[in-house]
Amino acid sequence: MSPLADARRPPGRILIDADELRARVGELGAALARDYESENPVLVGVLKGALVFMADLVRATPIALTMDFIALSSYGGGTRASGVVKLAADLSMPIEDRHVVIVEDIIDTGRTVSYLKRNLETRHPRSVRLCALLDKIERRDVEVDIDYLGFTIPNLFVVGYGLDHGGLHRNLPYIAAIDGPPAS
Ligand code: IMP
Ligand code: MG
Repeated sequence: MSPLADARRPPGRILIDADELRARVGELGAALARDYESENPVLVGVLKGALVFMADLVRATPIALTMDFIALSSYGGGTRASGVVKLAADLSMPIEDRHVVIVEDIIDTGRTVSYLKRNLETRHPRSVRLCALLDKIERRDVEVDIDYLGFTIPNLFVVGYGLDHGGLHRNLPYIAAIDGPPAS
């Protein structure tokens, strides 16, 4: 099979299908709309994994809001993050005195998002909350409060709906669990 055809072939088994994603993202958007009405919050999407979630989430959040993006990278490719986080691309605007909502694809060890929260807090926002699509709670090394959560999932490596494995499968419209041993 050509590499492109292979990239679109569904890997593993479907864990959360498109209908379940749509329903839950709709609920998260409604919750954000209720909590942030008239606040013009800044939703900070963490690239690249949160791109698809963010795109659906903002369309389910019928209030005035601002979107921005930040890119972080943890060293090392495969199914295992090293825990060393660096800022790869910064926000495009100041967040001083703004209500900020971090939009993340998945919280695994918690290292990425705790780094990000600390980083954003140095910029004196009015508040910082976290909205995450997936929580792999069994893997947590660092305590993280998730204010808005889509789904708790078991310790499996997942792809689709923005999440990748080696850069592929972000465009799958559902979340699939990749076969093989869980990340350790
Ligand atoms: P943490 O710093 O360990 O919480 O890792 C969070 C980051 O690792 C996420 O933002 C993802 O980019 C990546 N990650 C963790 N688990 C998975 C997974 O199962 N599939 C795809 N990416 C993952
Ligand atoms: Mg990510």
